Amino acid sequence: MIELEAARMVYGRTVALDDVSLAVTEGECLAVIGESGSGKSTLARVMLGQEQLTSGVFRRTGSGGPARTAYVAQDPADSLNPRMSVRRVIAEPLPSGRGDDAVLRAALEAVALDPHVLDRRPGDLSGGQQQRVSIARALVAEPDLLVLDEPTSALDPSVQAQILRLLRKLRTERGLTSVLVTHDLPAAAWLADRIAVLHRGRLVEIGPALDIWNAPTHPYTKALLAAALGDPVPENHHDSEGAP
Ligand SMILES: Nc1ncnc2c1ncn2[C@@H]1O[C@H](COP(=O)(O)OP(=O)(O)O)[C@@H](O)[C@H]1O
Ligand SMILES: [Mg+2]
Repeated sequence: MIELEAARMVYGRTVALDDVSLAVTEGECLAVIGESGSGKSTLARVMLGQEQLTSGVFRRTGSGGPARTAYVAQDPADSLNPRMSVRRVIAEPLPSGRGDDAVLRAALEAVALDPHVLDRRPGDLSGGQQQRVSIARALVAEPDLLVLDEPTSALDPSVQAQILRLLRKLRTERGLTSVLVTHDLPAAAWLADRIAVLHRGRLVEIGPALDIWNAPTHPYTKALLAAALGDPVPENHHDSEGAP
């Protein structure tokens, strides 16, 4: 449903995306991993239609109607208006800008928040609760593409796990099409169908998540996996599993 062909994005002298070709298919979760500065957020903005490529092709196919995209940012404290009630925050993407109570309660229930949160303000909530509000808002208008940019990296580790479990549950229940930007390879392997690895703006590897986890081919992906596992010798990581 989303295709990029030879996508290139240049900011001044910085090449943020360089010859990136990939597709996101209906119902899949594609994780985009890579270190800071590798072009992940740029790719996310392109997929959301927020920025035009310098060159190459960005194509959306399928839905026919206008694109309904939704976005979950890294830090909910930055992306949620602290002065609005949660009710208004969540209702914002709805066509009318307001939702009846049943819709808003269902949106909160989907992210395991109590209905009384509707009348609170984001600033009164914990970081994890705020990110749940952000996810509820993203899903309320039933987007055909959900893009999450580092949705857990601003949260405490225990809360990160809760949000990842929530995302996996929503993904299974709703058949969402989503792009998860993260530098967390284990989270990507656990949550996504496929993983795309960006390195300095180039797509260096893409494939089924478990294949990439079990047998990364690009040295950069091997290094990411080794770092995630605390392994000082990335080349050896295969020997510890599956070997007779
Ligand atoms: N709006 C922009 N203006 C100038 N440079 C940018 C802009 N957005 C991103 N960049 C540069 O492009 C590169 C990729 O950035 P980004 O997509 O944010 O990477 P990531 O999300 O992987 O950390 C970086 O070198 C960054 O400084
Ligand atoms: Mg980024």
